[in-house]
Parts: sequence; C-alpha cells; structure tokens
Amino acid sequence: MTDKKKVIEFPDGFLWGTSVCSHQAEGYNVNSDWWAWEQKGKIRDGTVSGPASDMLNRYPEDFEFMEKIGLNAFRLGIEWARIEPRKGEYNEEALEHYDRVLAEMEKRGLKVCLTLYHWVLPKWMADEGGWTVPESVRWFRRFCRKVIPRYFDKVHLWCTLNEPTCPIIAGYIAGEFPPEKRNFFLARKAFKNLLKAHAEAYRIIQREAKKRDPEAQPLVGIAHALADFQPAKPDNPIHCKLAEFLKFFHNDCFMDALKTGRNPFPFGFNEKIDGLEGSFSYIGVNYYTRMRFHLPDKLPKKFPEDLYYLPEGTETTEMGYEVYPPGFYNVIKDMAEYGKPLYITENGIADETDAQRPSYLLRHLAQVKRAINDGIDIRGYFQWSYIDNFEWKEGFSMHFGLVAMEPETLDRLPRPSAYMYGDIAKANGITEKIVEKFAPEAADEIWGSAGVE
Ligand code: FCB
Repeated sequence: MTDKKKVIEFPDGFLWGTSVCSHQAEGYNVNSDWWAWEQKGKIRDGTVSGPASDMLNRYPEDFEFMEKIGLNAFRLGIEWARIEPRKGEYNEEALEHYDRVLAEMEKRGLKVCLTLYHWVLPKWMADEGGWTVPESVRWFRRFCRKVIPRYFDKVHLWCTLNEPTCPIIAGYIAGEFPPEKRNFFLARKAFKNLLKAHAEAYRIIQREAKKRDPEAQPLVGIAHALADFQPAKPDNPIHCKLAEFLKFFHNDCFMDALKTGRNPFPFGFNEKIDGLEGSFSYIGVNYYTRMRFHLPDKLPKKFPEDLYYLPEGTETTEMGYEVYPPGFYNVIKDMAEYGKPLYITENGIADETDAQRPSYLLRHLAQVKRAINDGIDIRGYFQWSYIDNFEWKEGFSMHFGLVAMEPETLDRLPRPSAYMYGDIAKANGITEKIVEKFAPEAADEIWGSAGVE
C-alpha cells in the first residue's frame, strides 16, 4: 500500500502564477519593431502576431479563470510601443488600459509581477538605432518615469528587463531577431545601454518606494535567461572550456555586472556604470533546458548550435529543447550565490497535446523544492505560459500554454495541466493525489528529488 501522506510543501505565502509577455499575448501591437518585422515574412511558420492570444480584450475572463483555479499571481508586461507609439507622444488610452488591467488583477487576488521591457521596442525607437544608441537610455528613462509612478501601488514585483542577453545575442550576434545584425560592436553597445537602462529603472522604482516609506525595500530585478551549460564529456577539456565560455556569456556576465556595477569584458572593459552596483533585490530565474557542448565531426557552420550535443533518445520538447529537471536545480544554486531571494519568473514546455507537460511541471517543481530544502529563499513560481501565444520567430507553431485556444474564435480551451497547476496552487504543494493522477510514471523522480520519503 502506498503512503497517502506524501506531500511536497512550499513556503507560506509562495506565489503561484503564470507568465506572459504583452507582444506575445495581447495582440495588435502595431507600432512596434516586431510587428513591422513580422510583416516582412520573417516568421518561420509564415504567421504574424495579429490578435495573438487576444488578451488585450479577454483579460477579465482570463483573470477570472486564474482566480477560479486557485492562482494568486500573474506576470505580465506593459507595452512601451502602445504607450509611446510616436516619439514623445503618450497614448492616454493605452495608459488607462493598464490601469484597468491592474485593477482587475487586484480584484481577482492576483499579485502583479510587471515587466517593463520584454524584447519589443516602439518602431520609432528601433528606427533610430534601438539599444545601440546612447539616447536609448534617456528614452527608456522617460518611459519609466511615466509608468512606474502611475502603476507603483499595484505592483508587487518589478521586472525591469526580460532576458536582456537574448535580444543582444539573437538581434546583434546571431542575426535571428530584429534588427538582424551580426555585429559584435553593436552588441557591445546594446549590452552597455541595457545595463544603464536597468540602472535607471531601478533608481526610479527606489525613489517611488522611498517617497511612500523611507524604509521601503521594493522588489526589483530582471528575469534572467538561464540554461544549464555542461560539457558533453566532463573529462574532455575542450568540451569543458566551451561550456564554461558559453555559460559566462549567457548566464553570468549580465548578473555579474548588476552585482559589481561594472561592464565586463568582452562587452566592456570593466568600466563602472553609475547606479548599477547592487541594483537588484531579487533575481528572476527563467529556466527551460540543459545545453551540452562537444566538438562535432563536421566543421561547425552555425555557432553555437552545431556544437550542441543532443544524443538520440534524449527527452525533448516541441522546441527541440532537452528536458532536464536537475539543470533547474543547478541554475538556481548558481543564482543563489548572489545572496538575494529568487523568484522563478519562467519555466514551462511547448507541448500541444499536454502529454509531457504535467510530468515536466511536477519534476521541475520538485527541483525547486530540492533547492528550498537546501535553504535557498525561493518565493514564487511563474509558469510559462498561461496561454498559447506568439512564440517569436516560431510564430504560433509552439504551444506553451496551460490554456489552448480555439483557432477561429480564440475561445479559451484549458488543458488538463491548467487544473493540475491550480490544484498545486490551492494545496500550496504537490500531493500524492496529484502525482498519481497526472504523472504516476515520474513519481519516484518527483518524491526523490524533493527529498520526500
Ligand atoms: C523565454 C522568453 C519568453 C518565451 C519563452 C518560451 O526565453 O522570455 O518570451 O519566448 O522563452
């Protein structure tokens, strides 16, 4: 007989939410650089973001559903291109829209994690050079001054930048995202300006907080893209060097800059950036996969993809990512070294049929608990994503949602995982009933990694 008392408990007050990005979920972000780029046929499946998941209109019904299944938080963005569609012109209707969105979240008992920049720029700004020009910092500061005081009292967790290394790597090194450059010189400029932009937002949030209460410690951080970089063969020094170098580039250098206040080589020459040192009070962890590296037999043409080691039989997702829950623990341990509380700001899987998602979520949550057992201060988990949405260059071909959509009407079709995740949130933990119902085959791994006997 099984012991019916098995349970993985999470700390009191733990946040259980989902995550979206405005451009990917709201729809009709027509004054943005991404919108313009999509119209040029750049998306792999030939789609454009169009109405996306129509969250622009359906947010009340979506929040009602989140409340109903038991969630207590939600991570969303406010869209700069909507708020400042033309340089220096602010759209009052767009500002009021977000007033209504945040009020509705309050009504539904959803704590707000608000992202200020999630890869998308107003088109006018991209046309003037985007993050590569020094004025970008001033433009972002002006936007922040407009929105931070206005929404301040509604926000629990401020996320200044989402995964800043991704638009730098994809937009200025790999040439895969707008503005499709392959120019390390420009990448360096964008990197430095994003550091400065973050420091500005941090400063404005601090100032607003202190106005209300001189002792206030607002929660400000970035949502940081993290993968578990590993050598294919740990005894091969070249594999090790490759993994180490890419980990520094992707995982470590931006956070190190926030900690030290200095712009690291090769993006900078270790010069100091005003207001940057220690400019975060939590770290947002975004984790999807492990990446293993080796030297392939053929000469690599695409870097780093051709160095990627994914042997046959590896469990993968629709995106082709390896499913590797212990990697989540590894990146959490790494981020804990910075000595600040952590929130999981993204974790999830593209899986249209929902065949893998329940087990993926349970196994990854068990790793969060493993880290909590080690004494790491993790305060919340935001699953990516609430609903299927426009997955950048992959268009609508990837299905990250707990909720699917009816293609014609965009009506909401919750997947079984949505209810499972709601049950976890309501229980503030994973019960034996949940594991038996949704992922019995993974039970040993789930209890084992969470340290439940
Ligand atoms: C993250 C992005 C998010 C989404 C997920 C799948 O890297 O922050 O917008 O694309 O991946």
